[in-house]
Amino acid sequence: MTEKNEDKYKQFSNKLLDWYDIRRRILPWRAAPGEISNPYFVLLSEIMLQQTVVVTVIPYFIRFVKKWPTINQLAQADFNEIASLWAGLGYYRRAKNLHETAKIISTKHNGLIPNNKEVLLSFPGVGEYTATAIMAIAFDKKANVVDGNIERIFSRLYKIEEPLEHSKKKIRTLSNKYLPCNRNGDYAQSLMDLGSLVCIPRTPRCKSCPVIFTCKLGGRADAGLYPKRLPKKSKKQRYGIFYLLIDNEGSVLFRTNKNERLFANMDVLPSVGWNEEKENFKTSPKIISKDLALFNLDWEILETKINHVFTHFKLDCTVVFFRINKKMTKNLLINKEYRFVKKKDFNQLAIPSLINKILTTFEDKIY
Ligand code: ADE
Repeated sequence: MTEKNEDKYKQFSNKLLDWYDIRRRILPWRAAPGEISNPYFVLLSEIMLQQTVVVTVIPYFIRFVKKWPTINQLAQADFNEIASLWAGLGYYRRAKNLHETAKIISTKHNGLIPNNKEVLLSFPGVGEYTATAIMAIAFDKKANVVDGNIERIFSRLYKIEEPLEHSKKKIRTLSNKYLPCNRNGDYAQSLMDLGSLVCIPRTPRCKSCPVIFTCKLGGRADAGLYPKRLPKKSKKQRYGIFYLLIDNEGSVLFRTNKNERLFANMDVLPSVGWNEEKENFKTSPKIISKDLALFNLDWEILETKINHVFTHFKLDCTVVFFRINKKMTKNLLINKEYRFVKKKDFNQLAIPSLINKILTTFEDKIY
């Protein structure tokens, strides 16, 4: 490393930290200036932030720590309650992993979040990013935390022409050089804040940037075009059918998913799943699952289609509506996965956003 470069790296982290002292975001998991981080808050927030944006996470985080103020309390919680408070955050496997991780920390580590990257990496749902973020933010260790925001910052600093999909390793090597010797947690978070307040996608606010002095694209009209990306693959269209089945007391039939990948341990409306062919409803949709047949019911295909976008595909849902007499439900409820739930009790369920969308759209049918 030449002396000149070393000066540049130092100046970069100094300017960024000075900026952070004035502009830092106030976030509920963050320690106030001069205070020590709560490692449980850091772990919980990092898992919630894995695939979800900060504004969405904030109220969930607050509800979680109010209900389970320590990792031991979270470890002892009933998973259904965790799933219920997680509903709406998406990627539900994270809730299961979080609970498993809390149980391991509670039983094997005395309720203390380990201050060791390798140990953190051994926990379910903790990958490279989360482990480095915890090391830096919770324990103030020198750790190269690189997320999408930080990749954008370094792509612009160096005007990297290769698409981001091909330049991740290069960015990691570059960002590693800038790590300061102290204030490691603040430095990681200052980059996150720079990425979300100043070096934002499409319309960077270069005039407010504390590190413009070393940015190859700083203030240029094309800065917003970086990082370059490979052309997007279009998402596959799939078609699904869901059954809105209501008994004469206005309760809705739900099924609790087991360990399926999508909606694992969540409460969903019965469905025969989805595929790439549009179903043709020439005959009555009598079957709601392979083992449960509903014969001779009046059914109605609801006209409004529900569209939902998942990470890897788009789903066009048809909703089939039935009313069923309570007496007829006995057979159905032999299978413990199924239960009728009153509207006022929906908030006790872990309902994925797609199912919430269906319930809200057809709210007037639920009485
Ligand atoms: N995104 C991921 N981790 C974060 C954090 N600790 N603060 C703000 N945004 C984040």
